[in-house]
Amino acid sequence: MKIIVTDREGKVHELKGRDGWRVMEVIRDANLPMTAECGGACACATCHVYVDDAWLPKLPPQEKQEIEMLDFGVAVQENSRLSCQIIVSDEFDGLKVTLAPESL
Ligand code: FES
Repeated sequence: MKIIVTDREGKVHELKGRDGWRVMEVIRDANLPMTAECGGACACATCHVYVDDAWLPKLPPQEKQEIEMLDFGVAVQENSRLSCQIIVSDEFDGLKVTLAPESL
């Protein structure tokens, strides 16, 4: 399965998704710039991505902790998600996300 990631320069990367990995882990494994400071504990908001509008309704709803952490995110939008909270599976083959800025 693939995850399509647009970096902050607008370059599109087609990454191999691994079942059970977090989207954040797939992005970091490809050496794309993502701090993901807390390692996926939903405690930092530095794994912030924008999810493609077509994919947004297909993702599992946000847990309370993710919503609260996004309050600390930079440039949060309607389609913002924490990529450590999205677990890769076959149903997300072709998922498109864009790296959000980590600072302004
Ligand atoms: S890696 Fe820290 S909230 Fe996702």
